[in-house]
Amino acid sequence: MEDTAARVRVLFICLGNICRSPLAEALFRHHVTEMGLADKFEIVSSGTASYHVGEGADARTRDEAKRRGVSLDSHRARQFSRADFTRYDHLFVMDKDNLLDVLALDENDTHGYKVRLLRELDDEPDDYKVPDPYFGGPDGFARVHEIVDRSTRRLAEKLAAHHGLSPLS
Ligand code: 4NP
Repeated sequence: MEDTAARVRVLFICLGNICRSPLAEALFRHHVTEMGLADKFEIVSSGTASYHVGEGADARTRDEAKRRGVSLDSHRARQFSRADFTRYDHLFVMDKDNLLDVLALDENDTHGYKVRLLRELDDEPDDYKVPDPYFGGPDGFARVHEIVDRSTRRLAEKLAAHHGLSPLS
């Protein structure tokens, strides 16, 4: 029987949970799957806002990912809740607004150490922001895809090493 208790639980967070964090979830899953480590992780995403709860991923994000061979078709948006602080081991936010919104829910200041900006893992972190593509043009979605792909690839390597998981070579 599969040992789910030992899974490393990773949560990606943005504002609406229809563009950036579902993409981070899908690309991180893609990278750990390529490393042969998919069953070692529980991978989820959520949004700080409730606007899009229950909806699928944004069509522009989905199309960009599909073009590059990654499906977001099964995604349904959910909202971040305080219970996620205890369920997940690592929480990665897309920008400083997400960071402030999440930390504002950590009333007793006990879980904040788990929360980091995703682009801290980026080899080219620029301004440390995964820019919100929602109100912009198609170039924004391609750029976000590249940032998130690069950052989650490094994250997969770092978390595998941190948790002593050996990738299949
Ligand atoms: P996300 O993008 O936070 O990357 O999912 C957004 C999606 C929706 C909205 C803003 C950002 N919105 O204002 O509805």
